[in-house]
Amino acid sequence: MRTQVGIVGAGPAGLVLAHLLHLNGIDSVVVDRQTRDHVEKRIRAGVLEHGTVDLLTAAGLADRLLRERMVHHGVELLFDRVGHRVPLTELTGREITIYGQHELVKDLISARLDTERPLLFEAADVQVDGTELTFDVDGTQTTVECDFIAGCDGFHGISRAGIPSSALTVFEREYPHAWLGVLAQAPPASDELVYAYHDRGFALHSMRTPDITRLYLQVPADTDVADWPDARIWDELRTRLDRDDPRWQLNEGPILEKSVAAMRSFVVTPMQHERLFLAGDAAHIVPPTGAKGLNLAVADVAVLAEGFAEYYAGRGSGLLRRYSEICLQRVWRVQHFSWWMTSMLHRVDDDPFTRELQLSQLRYVTSSTAAATTLAENYVGFPMA
Ligand code: FAD
Ligand code: DHB
Repeated sequence: MRTQVGIVGAGPAGLVLAHLLHLNGIDSVVVDRQTRDHVEKRIRAGVLEHGTVDLLTAAGLADRLLRERMVHHGVELLFDRVGHRVPLTELTGREITIYGQHELVKDLISARLDTERPLLFEAADVQVDGTELTFDVDGTQTTVECDFIAGCDGFHGISRAGIPSSALTVFEREYPHAWLGVLAQAPPASDELVYAYHDRGFALHSMRTPDITRLYLQVPADTDVADWPDARIWDELRTRLDRDDPRWQLNEGPILEKSVAAMRSFVVTPMQHERLFLAGDAAHIVPPTGAKGLNLAVADVAVLAEGFAEYYAGRGSGLLRRYSEICLQRVWRVQHFSWWMTSMLHRVDDDPFTRELQLSQLRYVTSSTAAATTLAENYVGFPMA
C-alpha cells in the first residue's frame, strides 16, 4: 500500500489532521491500536478554545458540536468560601465551548468514514521505520509506504520512542498530585466552571450537558481509585466546593465513570525527525488545570496540515521545516499557563508561606483587571496560526 501521509493514532490530533489533509486533496492512512468503541468512549477533556471551534467549523467538522455545545462566557475561582467570576468574554471578546472530547472524536471518525479514506482500528504491532508504516490487522501484516509519517499516538505511543534519544531534548516535570475525575448523572450546580482552591486540595466543577456533571478532585499521585467509593467522593466534593452562599448546593447523582489521571509537564524538541512529525500528546503533555491538552493537539496539526498543503502544492517545504519552531512557541506559552494555574490552585505542602502566596495570587487575578485579563486571554486561547 502507498500513501502520502501515514498517521499513527486516531485521537483528536490524528483525526483532525486526516481531515485537513483530505480537504487539501492529500491522501493518508490512519491506524490506531484500539477498537473504535474504546476510542469513542474514552472520557477526557471538555473545554474547547474559541480558536479550536473556529478551526473545526471552517473544516466542516462542527455541525453537531455547534448544535449541542454549551457556550461559556466566564469561569469562577472559588477560595475562602467565596466565588469570584472571571468574565472571559468581557475581557477578551472570546468564549469557550464545553463539548466532551469523546463526542468530538465520534464526529471526527464519522467525518473520516464519509471521505472513504482508510481508517483502521485494532492495528497490532504498529511500527514506524523511516517512512514505512507496518501493522497487523486481523492477522494480516500490512506495510504502507509513506512520503511522511505523523506521530499522533499520544504520550505512550511508539512514534516518539522510535527517534534516537540523541536527536531529542526532553523537558519534564512531574507533580506530587493527580486528578480523580468523575462523570455524574446530575445537573450541573452552576452555569459556569468552578475552579476551587481549598485547604484539603483543589476541586473542579465542570459539566458535559444540562444533565451531566464532570467533577475532579486533587488526590496524591499514587492514588488507587478503589480507595474512593462514591460516598467518599461526594463528601470530599461537598467540602471543597462549599461556599458562604445559601443558594449553593452541589447536585449529586449516580457516578457513571471514575478514573485517576497523572499530572505531568513534558515537552520534546524538536517535534520532528527526518520525515516523522510528532503532534499532540506524542510531543507534549500539560497538567490539565489550564484545559489545554486537546486544544494544543489541534493547534499542532493545523500547522502541520498547512505545511503538507504547501509541500504538495509544489510551493516548497519551508513551513514543514519550521513546523517544530512554530508549534513550540504556543507549546511553551501553554506550558507556562498550565503550570501557573496548577501551582496557584493545588495544595502541595503544609507550608503556610506557600498558602499565603497562592491566596495572594488568587485575590490578585480576581481583583485586578490586568491580571484577570492575562488569565482570560490564556484560558480562551490565542488565535490559531
Ligand atoms: P490521544 O487522544 O492520546 O490519541 C492518541 C491515539 O493514539 C489514541 O487513540 C491511541 O489509542 C493511539 N495509539 C497509542 N499508541 C498507539 C500505537 N502504538 N499504535 C497506534 N495507535 C496508537 N486534557 C484536558 O484539556 N482536560 C482534561 O480533563 C484531560 N483529561 C485527560 C485524562 C486522561 C486520562 C488523559 C490521558 C488525557 C487527558 N487530557 C485532558 C489531555 C487530552 O485528552 C489530550 O491532550 C488529547 O487527547 C491529545 O490528543 P492526541 O490526539 O494528541 O492524543
Ligand atoms: C475539564 C477539564 C479540565 O482539565 C479543565 O481545566 C476544565 C474542565 C473538563 O473535563 O470538563
